[in-house]
Amino acid sequence: MAVIREAIERLELSGISKVAMGALGDPEVIPLWFGESDIATPAFIRDAAKAALDRGETFYSYSRGTAALRAGLKTYLDRLYGLDLHPDRISVAGSTMLSVVVACECLLTEGDEIILIGPYWPNVRVAAQLMGARNVDVRLRDDGTRWALDLADVAAAITSRTKAVYVNTPSNPTGWIMREAEGRALLDLCRRHGLGLIADEVYHRNVFVGRDPAPSFLEFAGDDEPVFVLNGFSKAWAMTGWRMGWMVTPTHLVEPMAVLAECNNTGATVFAQAGGLAALQEGEDFVASFVERTRNNRDIVMEVIGSHPKVRLLEPEGAFYAFPEIAGLTDSLAFCRTALQRAKVGIAAGYTFGAENEGHIRICFAIESERLRTALLRLRGLLDEL
Ligand SMILES: Cc1ncc(COP(=O)(O)O)c(C=O)c1O
Repeated sequence: MAVIREAIERLELSGISKVAMGALGDPEVIPLWFGESDIATPAFIRDAAKAALDRGETFYSYSRGTAALRAGLKTYLDRLYGLDLHPDRISVAGSTMLSVVVACECLLTEGDEIILIGPYWPNVRVAAQLMGARNVDVRLRDDGTRWALDLADVAAAITSRTKAVYVNTPSNPTGWIMREAEGRALLDLCRRHGLGLIADEVYHRNVFVGRDPAPSFLEFAGDDEPVFVLNGFSKAWAMTGWRMGWMVTPTHLVEPMAVLAECNNTGATVFAQAGGLAALQEGEDFVASFVERTRNNRDIVMEVIGSHPKVRLLEPEGAFYAFPEIAGLTDSLAFCRTALQRAKVGIAAGYTFGAENEGHIRICFAIESERLRTALLRLRGLLDEL
């Protein structure tokens, strides 16, 4: 009998890592594959973490986060969304990714189904599958001008095994931002069918269209509904290497959330949490300047790639990715490997973002604009040859 679980033996790298692994750190390659910029975390955040280290903040802390950061998160979220969140609903997690895992642990078990609203970030599918659940992909629609959620598609995917829905807004990889009406309707559907909802809002401040922050399920859902609102520091404050996130969970789950935090990683790194607090308290100028940079970069992507006759590209509304469809593309991984070898540009393969994405590639547009333009022009050259 097999000793290692079959689900583990079957794991494969994503279509992001499969392309990147052989060429990580190659100075000739312009990397547009991972979801991050080339800006180091701002100095005031680094200094706050250094000061915490110098104060000797190197001990275990409450597994759901330091009192200071949890209080800081309540102040930040209350201000941002005009709420008065119950403090016990807020937990610090050692990354948004870990909070995805925790939400799956709370909602899914062997044989369950989870609806993933896609195109979606592939690690979420793996987290669900590790719980023994099966993903059912429901794709946003191209409505001619933007990506849009058709609630009837979600409703049609619900079966007696469905336990939860995952939605990510603003979205990686499409840049879709859920409108308030779309969010309220989705939550109502979940209520009617008794489903849990995992709302991944890690790009909540990476917004080009409408209000900053993007509409949040924190604004629609009640305190004790089975709604898990996930977020983190990586994308708004250039803190991808810090591995810190947070989650807002149903009120009655205080104790289970503490136990899950203990078992998963016994809380986020304590001195990093001091950096997170500085980001929340003093990070608004950085957030605004980063959005400005990525908005400008989005325009460059639309100009260089979006205008190509073989490309269909809906303008990203948020996050910092473009997800163009390339006419005639049938093997996105092969195309990304060619782009790496011939153009020295690192991009991610569309197939990995869920069903029906084989004709797409994902471009992260968060790096410095002239370097981005160079990479995009090289890609455009490849498209010409297709
Ligand atoms: C949709 C989505 N959720 C979660 C994450 C993970 O964020 P973190 O770095 O905080 O783990 C990412 C990272 O790319 C993402 O795109």
